[in-house]
Amino acid sequence: ELNDQIETVLDSLKIADDQLVHIMHLLEAEMNAGLSPSTHDQAVVKMFPTYVKNIPTGTEVGQVLALDLGGTNFRVLLIDLRGNSRIELTSKIFLIPQSIMMGDGKQLFRHLSECLHEFMLKEHILNTDVCYPIGFTFSFPCSQEGLASARLTSWTKGFSCSGVVNEDVVKLFQNAINEKGINAKCVALINDTVGTLMACAYKDPATAVGLILGTGTNACYIEQLDKVGTWKGDYDEPKQVIINMEWGAFGDNHRLDFIRTRYDEEVDLSSTNPGRQIFEKMISGLYMGEIVRLIILDLLQRELLFLGHRDTYGDYKTPLYNRGGFYTKFVSTVETDEGIKFSNTRRVLEDIGIQNPTFDDCAIVQHICRQVSKRAAKLAAAGLSVLINRIGRPNVTVGVDGSLYRYHPRFKTNMERCMDMLVNKSIQFKIALSDDGSGKGAALVACLAEGTSWKKP
Ligand code: BG6
Ligand code: GLC
Repeated sequence: ELNDQIETVLDSLKIADDQLVHIMHLLEAEMNAGLSPSTHDQAVVKMFPTYVKNIPTGTEVGQVLALDLGGTNFRVLLIDLRGNSRIELTSKIFLIPQSIMMGDGKQLFRHLSECLHEFMLKEHILNTDVCYPIGFTFSFPCSQEGLASARLTSWTKGFSCSGVVNEDVVKLFQNAINEKGINAKCVALINDTVGTLMACAYKDPATAVGLILGTGTNACYIEQLDKVGTWKGDYDEPKQVIINMEWGAFGDNHRLDFIRTRYDEEVDLSSTNPGRQIFEKMISGLYMGEIVRLIILDLLQRELLFLGHRDTYGDYKTPLYNRGGFYTKFVSTVETDEGIKFSNTRRVLEDIGIQNPTFDDCAIVQHICRQVSKRAAKLAAAGLSVLINRIGRPNVTVGVDGSLYRYHPRFKTNMERCMDMLVNKSIQFKIALSDDGSGKGAALVACLAEGTSWKKP
């Protein structure tokens, strides 16, 4: 049985069904504000038109390069679109050191072009006379004026390079490529949600939503042009465009304060972007473990947890006391424990500095993890349900990617269960995991931009 005070903490993380419905109404209002030219500038959910109008058909042919920046890994890819829905790819993961994530923007783009150079050398495609098209997955909020023009509006997810906000990211990247003497041209910049939607649409034409549940969270979907007041592109067929919602910023105008806890506030205040990405900070992988850590720490300080361990938990050097010390993958590990043995939970607690935790300690920590991840799954479900209901087709597939969705043992089930309640009964929805990441989507967009006839000579 849980102590009343612990129960109160866990209750503060619960979201009732009527609250979820209210959150859906709020999000829908924010979406309309983002799409309307008179309110777009003040709107927090930016609803950026992406200039991606066409969904791939599977007949695309060409060899293109792709870069994928903004998730756990930075990847460079060489992608062969063979037509007949066949794609072959080779890729390499490179590191982005913390010093570059928070350093000078010039240096970031120099680093990207150096990685590209190294990759092209390895693939023997450097110094040929072919100018390779590049599709760039850049997973940060950008206001676009075309496929190859994207102004960064703000950094998210721990990045904070100087001299990039308000600049055209394609230009900065292209300059770095040219300086390095690489014969390649960035023809499209897309968000990771868009890459995910495209990659899934390639296999399943019912795909109309792209979702990321990873380091950050965001969604994009196919919107009808007559609903996009901010649209500045052409009105040719198809009269639709993919909208990058940047839903992570939902709540940045305090509309979600009624569900936020003091732990959410603390996570926000110690982040690189306080006051921003409020919805994201209640859901995604960069923050989930930290919420759990702050709750554990609070219960410990109120002498409600780890009572037998005052000697060990007094050690301020243990991960438990340090920001980021409780990884989100620990939340997944703790929640894989079933029954009363708690072997995974015990291991995690030992990792963060609690030796020989008791049965109660383990049970409480598992409860905390479950509540935090369940709240995240419900919030993501509410957001997705708004999109699916708005699209309104009888069949809607959601393409999804990201480590949280992939590796958390219950996220998917919790989210789908909640969606069953929130999605209109006339709609059948399906959630499909993307398999090769959004680089494939970037390649498809690059190929569509170059015309399907682009081929390696
Ligand atoms: C990858 C995609 O698979 O997932 C990236 O290729 C995306 O574009 C990423 O950003 C999101 O997940 P995570 O967990 O790496 O942030
Ligand atoms: C952050 C970024 C967004 C991205 C998401 C998932 O919210 O701002 O562009 O799609 O993370 O990676």
